[in-house]
Amino acid sequence: MGINSNAFQKCINPDCGAEFDYVRAFFKCPECGELLDAQYNWDKIEIPHRLSEFAKRWANRTNPLDFSGVWRFRELLNFCDDKYKVTIGEGQTILQQNDAVAEYAGVKPGCLYLQYEGLNPSGSFKDNGMAAAFSHAKMVGATSSACASTGNTSASVALYAHHCGLKCTVFIGSGRIAFGKLSQGIEYGAQTIQILGDFDDCMRQVQDVCTKLGLYLLNSLNPFRLEGQKTIMYRIIEGLGWEVPDWIVVPGGNLGNSSAFGKAFYELKQLGLIERIPRMAIINATGADTLTELVNNKKLIWNDGRVNQKIIDDYYTALTARNFSPHTCASAIEISRPVNLKKCLRAIDICSGVVRAVTDEEILDAKAIIGKFGLGCEPASAATIAGLKNLITEGIIGSNQRIACVLTGHPLKDPNVTVDYHKEKQGKFSNPPIEAPNDIDEIIKLIK
Ligand code: F0G
Repeated sequence: MGINSNAFQKCINPDCGAEFDYVRAFFKCPECGELLDAQYNWDKIEIPHRLSEFAKRWANRTNPLDFSGVWRFRELLNFCDDKYKVTIGEGQTILQQNDAVAEYAGVKPGCLYLQYEGLNPSGSFKDNGMAAAFSHAKMVGATSSACASTGNTSASVALYAHHCGLKCTVFIGSGRIAFGKLSQGIEYGAQTIQILGDFDDCMRQVQDVCTKLGLYLLNSLNPFRLEGQKTIMYRIIEGLGWEVPDWIVVPGGNLGNSSAFGKAFYELKQLGLIERIPRMAIINATGADTLTELVNNKKLIWNDGRVNQKIIDDYYTALTARNFSPHTCASAIEISRPVNLKKCLRAIDICSGVVRAVTDEEILDAKAIIGKFGLGCEPASAATIAGLKNLITEGIIGSNQRIACVLTGHPLKDPNVTVDYHKEKQGKFSNPPIEAPNDIDEIIKLIK
């Protein structure tokens, strides 16, 4: 099997551009250390002439690969034989038009759509990526897996690892992950190592451990994981009757999603399956705003792959010098050294992207609104609506444009943040429970 097959891996650094067989497991280019992409020889792959042809698969849902919201689109992530493909029914998500949340954000009725990735088996978008990455892991014969995580990756890795019989070790920052996520990882049987440090420390450690022990790495450095996450965009297009929205709004943490979404649209355009590429807004939390700082203040750009490394190095050196550790109530995106930074810059270039940071207060208020009028989400996901509201005020996003916000995780992932917001009356939309004596008349007096 050589690079003449359907798929291959390619370094994103144009001065390197090394290519590798897709049946090898790397998480960085062995030649130059940059990120790797999964790439395809599209002329060897039979692709539907129109995206709407994928709809036929709905009629064949007893086949698990047609039921999967990832593998239903398998021609667009064609890197492994069906016999290796892993699925536990991921990607059965809802794209909900929501006028009440739209009103909060200043968007016209009929224009705002919420993509509920919290409806995945482990409760977050990560399952899209894991279906693809664990398929690759099986293809290369991996027996042990590992990841660093702010919580959702670990929950998803643990679930998929036990489904396919791989051992799994997850690295988390001690006290840095939400309880729902921690409970999932340990319940699903992951060996959980709590490091006295933050996510960035865990990310560094896990790479070294994987190299030393030959474990299969499932963080979004893994190019095949991002292939699975492309399907979130296919499903948004599907939910819009095979039309492309004007804007995608996504939270930014380790920047895997934004990178995958940019790649998805680039490929669809290249294949003639869409006529235009939507714009993308990536939303950081102000306590973890590396991307915002680098793009908006330091003017870091993709520059055809020749990214100015000195800007990044200087920024990280300054973070280290002041002993910086990121802090936000949106613990999922509490990351200061995002590993997919360069791929994200490429996505910004592809999608004419914008980047903003929102405060914890803005995140929590937006989250309460998504809970009250929608199906709810975890804090990081609510950064999308908070960011959208600001971008509408700024006039960057038009109130009558068609906007899809990716709600990345389920509300039960982080019950503490929710209960504190309401019980401690932390925000404008707090809805605290009322204490009542055990007395019918007193209880009736309280009911509005
Ligand atoms: N939203 C949620 C709910 C997340 O869990 C994450 C990332 C993000 C957004 C950010 O996505 O990294 O693609 O930019 N969580 C990772 C984890 C880091 O370990 O669970 P990204």
